[in-house]
Amino acid sequence: MYKIIDKEFLSENVARLVIEAPYIAKSRKAGNFIILRIDKNGERIPLTIADANIEKGTITVIVQRVGVSSHKLCAMNIGDALLDVVGPLGKETHISNVGTVLCAGGGVGVAPLFPIVQAMKLAGNRVITVIAARTKDLVILEDEMRAYSDELIIMTDDGSLGKKGLVTQGMEEVILREKVNEAVVIGPAIMMKYAALTTKKYDIPTVASLNTIMVDGTGMCGACRVSVGGKTEFVCVNGPEFDAHKVNFDEMMFRLNAYKTKEAEGYSDYLKSLESTAPALV
Ligand code: NAD
Ligand code: FES
Repeated sequence: MYKIIDKEFLSENVARLVIEAPYIAKSRKAGNFIILRIDKNGERIPLTIADANIEKGTITVIVQRVGVSSHKLCAMNIGDALLDVVGPLGKETHISNVGTVLCAGGGVGVAPLFPIVQAMKLAGNRVITVIAARTKDLVILEDEMRAYSDELIIMTDDGSLGKKGLVTQGMEEVILREKVNEAVVIGPAIMMKYAALTTKKYDIPTVASLNTIMVDGTGMCGACRVSVGGKTEFVCVNGPEFDAHKVNFDEMMFRLNAYKTKEAEGYSDYLKSLESTAPALV
């Protein structure tokens, strides 16, 4: 069993969970992820390891409440335990000193970006980070990102914090201003598609971390397959990071949307069942 040591909400629907998992904490590298199950009937939930503490034997994951399983996970409390946590999975990020690295995160994608920003900085790079969200209340990990970035740019769609505009506008501003040797982009698929098109214009090598549907996480089921440079790759074992200029994001979005209606129906039924079992107010 994997105990929840700490929990806090970073925004209305995004929670940070600190989980006791000493072996994973010791061996994880930037870019790795885990797959967890809450209980024996639970769905397998893939989550990037956002941070780890070797001394305390803990890993940190950040989860967005979007469906039944993530709702149940966000409802767990300090002291509760998860049935299983498998990891570290996936290939680690290739980290080297390349000069200036532009790290761009959109929405909850800022969470998996954090260990990469950290590792890029510790490798001696100049790290310029752009974090973006729809509005001020959805901006996460601002202080953590600032601590490991030479410069932090915040973009919000509505201009309620930082500069008004999309993540790609913040990225382009940096690219036009100075030489960028490499870029890392993480966020919703549509954001990564346009972030990759932005860096392609300027010929900047770019890595994207993909969050496809996953089942076994060991390369057996094919649920996570994507096309990269015309070749089929499995995100769980060959990724999650790929050359962003070669990823077929349109196909990835099509596959991500395959179960959207069923998921939304299931989530709506689940929320209704919670309402019907809630104690009546007197
Ligand atoms: P969101 O939809 O609020 O978008 C966040 C930011 O991305 C926006 O503020 C904007 O700056 C940028 N963006 C969005 N669309 C864009 C476009 N067309 N062009 C340029 N920039 C654009 O994000 P959210 O609701 O936090 O994201 C949730 C999604 O992120 C889910 O689909 C989830 O699966 C995915 N996600 C991805 C990863 C990953 O590892 N890639 C990790 C966590 C979550
Ligand atoms: Fe099954 Fe990747 S999750 S092959």
